[in-house]
Amino acid sequence: VRLCHGRPVRLPYSTAIAEYGRFISERTRAIVVNNPNNPTGRLLTADEWRELHRLAVQHDLYIISDEAYSDYVLEAGDFISAATFDLPKAHTIVCNTLSKNYGMSGWRIGYVFTNEELLYQILKLNQHLITCPPTVLEWYIVRHFHEVLGITAPQIRDVVVKRRAVARMLDSFGLRYLPGEGTFYLFMSIQESGLGSEEFCTRLLDERGVSTVPGLGYGESCDRFIRLSVGAEGIDRIRGGVEHIAQFIRETGPAPALASAANAA
Ligand SMILES: Cc1ncc(COP(=O)(O)O)c(C=O)c1O
Repeated sequence: VRLCHGRPVRLPYSTAIAEYGRFISERTRAIVVNNPNNPTGRLLTADEWRELHRLAVQHDLYIISDEAYSDYVLEAGDFISAATFDLPKAHTIVCNTLSKNYGMSGWRIGYVFTNEELLYQILKLNQHLITCPPTVLEWYIVRHFHEVLGITAPQIRDVVVKRRAVARMLDSFGLRYLPGEGTFYLFMSIQESGLGSEEFCTRLLDERGVSTVPGLGYGESCDRFIRLSVGAEGIDRIRGGVEHIAQFIRETGPAPALASAANAA
């Protein structure tokens, strides 16, 4: 955004789509959304998309939709692409990647779809920024494009089912998290701990060997959250990690005497 002399405006995670209009000024050029959302797993509904497209048309804006986790849902219909409500893609730019749906993270091949005129402009910028994607991965994907989804689709399904199981596990520990049905993350509250998310995650890693991502990376409004990934580990190791997290929250929360003094105040 800054490369184009723009100023990114970050919206607090809890902002409802119906409130987005309040953040639009004369200088607004585009709305960037991530659906399904990393880290919350939130999926935009048809009504929310209608409202976003209405704003785009009213204020002459682009919608840039990062749909990297588009397959990480249980039912295909749960995910609605931005392009669904703008088939000619007059103001819609959809970005996706092989990193998640195709399980090829790290080397990075991505793609974008929009109208032809805009694509040509994006290509100019892309050529000078990226030059070309990794050659090894290009050859690999040319050869195996269709087979890969056959392998990753069942894996993705398992991981989304596991996400639900971990959500129930968090419930059983009395831990709170934001609702969401997509991705392989859960965005969990650490409100009861006295620590900010950076310190919480660093100490959790150093002292307990459990790796999570500080919510602060997703903006100031997310500092009372941490992101759990359920992608790589089995359910038993995840349970061990969740036990540590629950214990660590208790240990770093306000001391009981202080807590009751605070309540009395
Ligand atoms: C929302 C989102 N978009 C894109 C990416 C990564 O895409 P790529 O590996 O193609 O850079 C990630 C993951 O790291 C992500 O969470």
